[in-house]
Amino acid sequence: MLGRKHEGHIKVDVPPAMDANEAARIAYDQDISLSRHHFVEGEHPVVRIEHLMKTFDGHTQVLRDVNLNVWNGEIVVVLGPSGSGKSTMLRCINLLETPTAGHILIDDDEITGKSAKEVNFIRRDLGMVFQSFNLFPHLTALENVMIGQTKVLKKGKEEARAEAVKQLEAVGLGDRIDYKPPQLSGGQQQRVAIARAVAMHPKVLLFDEPTSALDPELVRDVLAVMRDLALNGDMTMIVVTHEMGFARDVGDRVVFMEGGVVVEQGLPEEVFDHPKNERTAQFLGSIK
Ligand SMILES: Nc1ncnc2c1ncn2[C@@H]1O[C@H](COP(=O)(O)OP(=O)(O)OP(=O)(O)O)[C@@H](O)[C@H]1O
Ligand SMILES: [Mg+2]
Repeated sequence: MLGRKHEGHIKVDVPPAMDANEAARIAYDQDISLSRHHFVEGEHPVVRIEHLMKTFDGHTQVLRDVNLNVWNGEIVVVLGPSGSGKSTMLRCINLLETPTAGHILIDDDEITGKSAKEVNFIRRDLGMVFQSFNLFPHLTALENVMIGQTKVLKKGKEEARAEAVKQLEAVGLGDRIDYKPPQLSGGQQQRVAIARAVAMHPKVLLFDEPTSALDPELVRDVLAVMRDLALNGDMTMIVVTHEMGFARDVGDRVVFMEGGVVVEQGLPEEVFDHPKNERTAQFLGSIK
């Protein structure tokens, strides 16, 4: 869609999105050795990012040329120093930010360059869990998990309620459904936020440092819920986190970003134990 665009004084020129079959073939050849995902011949990635660029205020170039494919059911963990563009990338994927140029495709449908109405429709496929939970404080846990289902998916109350109870039970909060966020711990609030996202059955679930705002003893419960979701479901997840244990055990692939590009990606054990890029090695050394 965004072949050529002027943003402030920066002129951005990127090629059109690739043909779906050709892109899938290239992505398969590239990613098969980089991920624990069980690749199926002929499979297409669920998320395809080509030449994604994001510039703020006409000159702050935050995403330079991000290229990334994510496969159905894959757990991709994104690492990188502060300011490297991790949140901006996630926010572009669910269209909270409008990319300056480049292409994002979900199941081979381009989602960039759409009208506001279309954006609302597309966003149903992209769940997001934020560092700061973003729950409605005046609604109960149950109501928080129901509201997107009734308002956005137009589900009936009973159906939405049943799904909300199921998802709240899955995150260990079956006995807290009538509590409001101020009556819940941070870890419990984050688990409500995860239940809310899962209840929408998105194609992809995006997590932006979901445990960074939590006290250490609450981190474990949230990670356990995410681990369950990753290992026992077929959810596709892109997780920005500094939790190295999670990345190593649960990640199918680790992606290291710096300066608005993907610097290195690969199997967790490869990236952690044998980083190829000096910056990756430095970063991993600094957080050990
Ligand atoms: N709305 C905005 N306007 C201007 N600059 C922005 C905006 N949002 C982000 N930035 C800048 O983009 C850069 C990348 O920010 P981003 O939040 O994506 O980084 P990050 O990798 O998520 O960092 P952190 O680990 O600290 O969360 C930063 O320099 C930030 O100041
Ligand atoms: Mg961030």
